[in-house]
Amino acid sequence: MILLKTKEEIELIRDSACLLGKVLAEVGRHIRPGVTTSYLDRIGEQFIRDNGAIPLCKGYEGFPASFCISVNDEVVHGIPSDRFLNEGDNVTIDCVIDLNGYVSDSAYTFPVGEVSDEMKRLMKVTKESLYIGLNKCKEGNRIGDIGAAIQQHCEKNGFSIVRELCGHGVGFKMHESPNVPNYGVPSTGPLLKEGMVIAVEPMVCMGSKNVKFSKVDGWTCTTKDGKPAAHYEHTVAITKNGPDILTTFDFIENQIN
Ligand code: MF3
Ligand code: CO
Repeated sequence: MILLKTKEEIELIRDSACLLGKVLAEVGRHIRPGVTTSYLDRIGEQFIRDNGAIPLCKGYEGFPASFCISVNDEVVHGIPSDRFLNEGDNVTIDCVIDLNGYVSDSAYTFPVGEVSDEMKRLMKVTKESLYIGLNKCKEGNRIGDIGAAIQQHCEKNGFSIVRELCGHGVGFKMHESPNVPNYGVPSTGPLLKEGMVIAVEPMVCMGSKNVKFSKVDGWTCTTKDGKPAAHYEHTVAITKNGPDILTTFDFIENQIN
């Protein structure tokens, strides 16, 4: 069942989402060659708690940290560890928080120091595909319109879309109905209605779309070919007029640009 949110509830999700934008920027500010991913997790968790929110990944189905931190060929669900970041890596910071009972979800792939031109292009196209998908988030469209638009943009740029994972409803809980695939056929799937709140999150590979899940830690999803992936995610409310994007990259981009 798809739970619709009232205008008042959407404002409360927006408060959560706005804080989450600041959380990602606070972590982003500490990204540089030589830091460990568990250091970034610690900094971020402290910032979340100092602002009165709860990191929802921690303890979710046994996930051990507040952030999913995924480097290079790690697509999603990387577990923070004593691994050092190196110049030229990319690192995805993915976080879900609860502020006053309202849940937001967002992710951003950052460059570590100077990265290759192809890595820059992967990040640019993935972020563009997120906004192209978000532009379909309008009452009367269907879920398939979002995925089709994302898929088309990534594939025309020579990249591929992960099939095993997708976006989702969000707002009262981390994962609600419906699923929001990053591929698909226009005019198919559930109808979008005002009051729906979803997380749109393209996971895009530089090489082939095939991924595997770690048998060692039970979580980390990596590309089978070892090539890098990127992942950007926003929480968005559907309105009659189009997307009302609740999370924001402004705090990140105003400090790194
Ligand atoms: N942020 C992820 C998502 O987009 C969920 C993280 S899985 C967890 O759905 F176990 F870390 F919570
Ligand atoms: Co998500």
